[in-house]
Amino acid sequence: MTVQNDARFAGEDYLRHIMLDYRQMTEFVKEPFLVARADGIRFWDVHGKEYLDGLAGIFTVNVGYNNPRVLQAVIEQLRTLPFNPPMHGTNPRAVELANLLAEVTPGDLNTARLVDSGSEANEAAFKLVRQYHRQTGNPGKFKILSRYLSYHGATAATMSAGGVGYRKTLYEPAAIGHLHTYPPYCYRCPYEKTYPDCDVFCARTIRQMIEWEDPRSIAAIIVEPISNTGGIITPPPEYLKILRQLCDECNILLIFDEVITGFGRTGNLFAANTFGVTPDLLCCGKGMSSGYAPLAAAMVSDKVARAFWGAPGTEFAHGHTYAGNPVACAAGLASVREIIERKLPDNARRVGAHLVQRLEGLRSLGIFGDIRGKGLMIGVELAEDPATKKSFAPEVKIGLRIGKRALANGLLLRFDPHWIAFGPPLIVTEQDIDAMVAILEQSIREVLREL
Ligand SMILES: Cc1ncc(COP(=O)(O)O)c(C=O)c1O
Repeated sequence: MTVQNDARFAGEDYLRHIMLDYRQMTEFVKEPFLVARADGIRFWDVHGKEYLDGLAGIFTVNVGYNNPRVLQAVIEQLRTLPFNPPMHGTNPRAVELANLLAEVTPGDLNTARLVDSGSEANEAAFKLVRQYHRQTGNPGKFKILSRYLSYHGATAATMSAGGVGYRKTLYEPAAIGHLHTYPPYCYRCPYEKTYPDCDVFCARTIRQMIEWEDPRSIAAIIVEPISNTGGIITPPPEYLKILRQLCDECNILLIFDEVITGFGRTGNLFAANTFGVTPDLLCCGKGMSSGYAPLAAAMVSDKVARAFWGAPGTEFAHGHTYAGNPVACAAGLASVREIIERKLPDNARRVGAHLVQRLEGLRSLGIFGDIRGKGLMIGVELAEDPATKKSFAPEVKIGLRIGKRALANGLLLRFDPHWIAFGPPLIVTEQDIDAMVAILEQSIREVLREL
């Protein structure tokens, strides 16, 4: 029996034994969405329906589905060595990948702590920065400063650093030592200021926070250079530079969470390149293996790494069974080489500009408040009255409705109550974008007719 005519996948009884990410399962079993196969920028569900993937799964499948080079690398590695004893050593692919990452990441981010997911990369970063300060004479530095509306993962510490209230409140008390500041959300500035007159107050005011909190207690600042969860919140060009300077002045380590923005998404290999700022730690995942195997990394600068090379007891006391797994690393090597050799960051920049232009053309629908992002990470904040920025009433859930309608019409997007976003595979063409935007336009028109 092929998957595509297997009636079990439409049955609630069969589906009720699994619990999915951030999904109410009573709703899911009524409208199950199961992807059966994929190729390029398209996938098909278990009923054979075709979709355009406007989101690379979840900002992940950067080289597209069914990429021959990555497939070949994974299959060969499975045959050669699927696993190595992780507490005794590593494998050639892991060392090769660490070297490649050292070469392609900016600045002196030359050491890779390989892990299996973005959450684990950020978790490792939190432990690394605390231990670094301990081993360099500042044992009091343990607090991690992050931003509201951010997302850094689903594990306990990364959830605590995250800045979306409802994702935490069910599990609180959260971990101690996590401080939050406002994001650079220019469209609806939490400080009620306007860029550029504000002179990037949201970044400058962090100095005050650090002083009042006591710099001797603060280990690191973590930011997504462009934040997905708040609706592709994109900082002004000076923002990250100001954070860099503040961190340098106060001996605070700067962590970039590039789990989404890494590996070409913003039009350069890393958002660190896009914004011209090098962090002390750079966490990446998703696009590194393009989703062909679970893989992520915390890249560590020489300054930080040096503190871990020394007497027994100063090593990083951390491990995961699958960290540096040879199959995942083979997928990562092939995916990263493919991204670089096919110049996919350039494609992201070029096709991303086309996407923005096409979305600008949809402003006439009357509900596009703000279009923002870089490369192929582009969001649209929806507004009932773009002229006054008046939001839709929360119960309208306009973004959800449009996103669900787009899915029904064969287009996968990221959607939230007030915004929608594109993050397609980086192999996407202008013609693919035109097809995607046409489905989006049709979906918006259908939803507007219902309001
Ligand atoms: C910015 C960011 N950081 C961290 C994570 C967590 O990564 P993972 O889901 O691989 O644990 C995500 C996941 O979407 C993310 O978007």
